[in-house]
Amino acid sequence: MGFGTWYDEHVVPRFIKCACSSPAIMALREKVVPQASGAVFEIGCGGGINQQLYDSDRITSYAGLDPSGKGLDFARAEAAKKGWQADIRQGFGESIPFEDARFDTVVCTFTLCSVGSQAETLRELRRILKPGGQLLYAEHGRAPDASVQKWQDRIEPVWKKLAGGCHLTRPVTAAITAGGFEVHDGGQRYAPKTPKFAGWMEWGQAIKAG
Ligand SMILES: C[S@@+](CC[C@H](N)C(=O)[O-])C[C@H]1O[C@@H](n2cnc3c(N)ncnc32)[C@H](O)[C@@H]1O
Repeated sequence: MGFGTWYDEHVVPRFIKCACSSPAIMALREKVVPQASGAVFEIGCGGGINQQLYDSDRITSYAGLDPSGKGLDFARAEAAKKGWQADIRQGFGESIPFEDARFDTVVCTFTLCSVGSQAETLRELRRILKPGGQLLYAEHGRAPDASVQKWQDRIEPVWKKLAGGCHLTRPVTAAITAGGFEVHDGGQRYAPKTPKFAGWMEWGQAIKAG
């Protein structure tokens, strides 16, 4: 195994689990994850951090997908801790192994930054949602301020290599809207105590349009 593969498989999942559990990030998760209901699918479920925030009484089933083997180990350990039946699989958001209109809720937190293709992943998320189903999201992305954008552009090439392919310059809500969702209850702000280049956050509930 080369150093790059070893780093991606062993260091990145631990780094992500730690960085994505800060109080500022947990506060954003708490705004969206507890709203999940019915049949729930979580894209980028690696690490399993969201599982503690789901309200089991509102959920009839939980499925998750992530390409990272180590991330999935963490997610399965969280499922065992929570004591619920979870269908957690290895795979990519660009090709989700579930049938059309299967889910009431899709949860997507801090994952659209890392997928290979945002547009293909959003197309798949829309496909597996029932008509009128909800996409609950919390993501970091392209900041609105030119001074921050300048640093995002400079840092992104190195950041992507260190942080498992995470992009700093992707739009969030605009991409979700372009993907065929109507955004309700959206919010945005810089997360406190987070470097601004990685700290512009957008979150909300989006409904499958059409
Ligand atoms: C920053 S982590 C966030 C993990 C988790 N969603 C959370 O909120 O803590 C990004 C996640 O996206 C996953 N990922 C990367 N490429 C992906 C893809 N093409 N499809 C689905 N998940 C992907 C990574 O393995 C990683 O678990």
